[in-house]
Formats: sequence, C-alpha cells, structure tokens
Amino acid sequence: MKITKLRTLKNQSQTENLLEELSLPSKLPENPKRELDRRKFMQTSLLALASSPAMVMADESIKNDFPAWSTTPGKGLNEYGQPSKFEAATKRGVAKAYGDLAPGTGSARTPIEKLEGIITPNGLHFDRSHNGTPDIDPTKHQLSIHGLVDKPLNFSVENLLRYPMISRTYFVECAGNSAANIIAPQPIQATAGTLHGLISCSDWTGIPLSVLLREAGVNPAGKWILAEGADAAGMSRSFPIEKAMDNAMIALYQNGEKIRPEQGYPMRLLLPGWEGNMNVKWLRSLKITAEPTHTKDETSKYTDPLSNGKARQFTFELGVKSIITKPSGLMKLPSKGFYEISGIAWSGAGKVARIEISTNGGKDWFDAVIDGPNQAFCLVRFRAPWNWNGEPAFLQSRAIDERGNIQPTRAAYKANNAVDGRYHNNTIVTWAVQADGSVQNAYL
Ligand code: CO
Repeated sequence: MKITKLRTLKNQSQTENLLEELSLPSKLPENPKRELDRRKFMQTSLLALASSPAMVMADESIKNDFPAWSTTPGKGLNEYGQPSKFEAATKRGVAKAYGDLAPGTGSARTPIEKLEGIITPNGLHFDRSHNGTPDIDPTKHQLSIHGLVDKPLNFSVENLLRYPMISRTYFVECAGNSAANIIAPQPIQATAGTLHGLISCSDWTGIPLSVLLREAGVNPAGKWILAEGADAAGMSRSFPIEKAMDNAMIALYQNGEKIRPEQGYPMRLLLPGWEGNMNVKWLRSLKITAEPTHTKDETSKYTDPLSNGKARQFTFELGVKSIITKPSGLMKLPSKGFYEISGIAWSGAGKVARIEISTNGGKDWFDAVIDGPNQAFCLVRFRAPWNWNGEPAFLQSRAIDERGNIQPTRAAYKANNAVDGRYHNNTIVTWAVQADGSVQNAYL
C-alpha cells in the first residue's frame, strides 16, 4: 500500500508526511539533488523489503500449542530491570593492559555492533581507566574551584544538585579508539566493538561550568584550567578557559539516572567533542592557571608523534568519523539479497553534514540517510539500503562534518604520523564481505 502511495505522491508535504510515518527524517533538504536521493532511498528500501527473503508468509492459521510463557504467570516485579537472559552476549569487551596485576587499568569497549539508535545503555558505556574505579561516597566528595580566582569555592554534591541544570546528548570517544587498525600491520579480525568500541553517547544532565566559574570569578591572568580526578591515578588534564566558558559541563546524571561509578560517579567533566580522557571522571579539582600544567597524562600520553620526528601536544578536538556497525567484522550474511547498511557517525567539530557509503571500496559513493536527530557533538545513526549480489564487496562509510572536514584514508594517516602514532585515528574503515558472506576487517 505504502509503495503505491509513494509513487503517486505529488507534493512535498505529502512526501514529508509519509517520511514521518515511517520515522525517517521528515524535512526534505533544499538541495534538489539531495531530495531526489532521499526519494530514491525510500523507494529502493521499500521495494527491496517487499521482496525480502526475511519476510515469511503465514500458510496456516495460528495453532493452539502455546509456549509455557503464555500459559503460566511470569516473574514477579523487581526494583531494577535487567536485559533478557537471551541477550547475555550483549556485553562490553574487557581488555586489561596488565592482566590481574592491575585489573583496573585498560578498557571495556562498547559492543557497537549489537546496539541501535544513538544512545549507549549506561552499563555498556565504554570505560577507559588508568587505575580502576574508585568507590566514592557522595556525601564526602567535594569539587574545588581554586587557583587564579577571586573566591575559591568548594561544592558538595548536595550543593551542586540545587543549581539549575541542562541536559545535552554528547558522545565521548577515547583518543586511542581504533588504534589497532593503525598500529597492526595486518588487519586484526575482530568485531566493530573490539576494534572501534571506545565510543559511546549519553544524555548528560548537569551544570554549565561557566556558571560555577563566574561565581568564583576568574582573574584576567587565568587562561587554562587543570582538571583532576579523585581516582588513584590522579588523572588530570589542562584545557583552555574558552572551552570552559563555551560548552563545558559538570555532569551528575547519565541517561536520566546518577552517573555510573565507571563514568565518574558522583560527577564528571564534559568537554563536548574533545578527546575522552579530558572529560575527567570523579572530578575533584578545577585549578585555574595561567599556562597548561603539562601533567603526565598530557606529556607521556595523549601526544601525537609525527613522521617528521616532532610531536603534537594538546590535540583536543576529535576528528569527523563513522563506522558501519551492520554488517561488520565477524558477522556472516546468510544469503544474497537485501541488507540495511547502518552505523554511527560523529564529529568533534560539531554536527555531521553527510555520510557517504561505498560498496566497492571507494570507487563509487552514494549518500546514506541520517535517521533521527542530528545534534552537535552527538552520534548520528545513518542507514542505507543495499542489495548484495553475492560477490565480494568492500563496504566503507565516509563522514563529512559541518566544517567540511572529511574522513582521511589509512594511507594518509600513516604518511603524517610516526610509525607508532595511534591517537585520533578517524580513518575510513573497510569491511570486506567475502563470497561466503563472512565479513572481515580490511585495509584499503
Ligand atoms: Co589528542
């Protein structure tokens, strides 16, 4: 019914109504070429679905052999819900850098290939920790704002909860995300989450940092801030005062509930679009300084060695990036025919403008549709229809942000960075679909 309706649509508002009904972006772009692309996308999707092998016609009426869950009372009510036991495989991949010697050093990666939409469930948000998760009593924790200020201030959690709040949906990405695809000479065969899962996105609620800084009164000489966590690693980073006044936030809530311990309970710093470790967890101190402090976390780590022997320091903003999560590494396509290519894209510069898809390793590109909201410093979900003809294919996505930044190739990254450079890898990811339907990580 909807297919014929789509074909006979005459005007834009009718089209928008239909798109809205199908939960796709209702606003058609002004550029006529894009409008055509989107109509084509809708038509291709709907026609492909109509002939999909996944659609099964019922050949008999429903029988009365009900399963036990339909004939006996279900489990009782509980105080905090958990995922179905059949979804036990949807979990973070844990990598301990020093094994059981330091079990809190390393990372737990978001299984991005098993998730949909743009929000990461709290229990699956990636965790990169340098010395474990501290068990902080919120009634004893304080945030101090001090240094080059008129009036040093200490805030308890109780104090902070009385301030007016804002909610923003922001991604957090580790600067070392996707490092394996740069360092490893041959592509490692693993899932999208294992290779690229140091990226997550939440609805954060808290207080704009500018509000607290104005209350303390920053001296004119105060140009930088040293943010320090209360964990045993004393994780600390310097950032410029302009970022603090622009959109930095002290977050106390994540997706509606209090921030999880692994995400900084009872509070963390959020610097939208900037590398993960700067979003200091378990935040206890903001010291206003004239210069950056050059802590261990911004000298020995998180600097970028270049191919010319020099190194870049204070590279804060994350590049524009995208990952196809479906299909992706270690998956197997059961047969040729229709598949939806879907994934996530983001940019440390603000909004994502477009995502392009290639199924032949970058020879030809076509636009994916951004499905759902497109907000600055937030993941977007992209989708594109694909009819797999059963022959080997090379799937790639390439995001372009509102400043015109575009994802580079792996070769371009390798040419500019030292042989052991690994941070800020936002290069185009290739998934190679084999003739047998298996999906492999590949370098092109
Ligand atoms: Co950096």
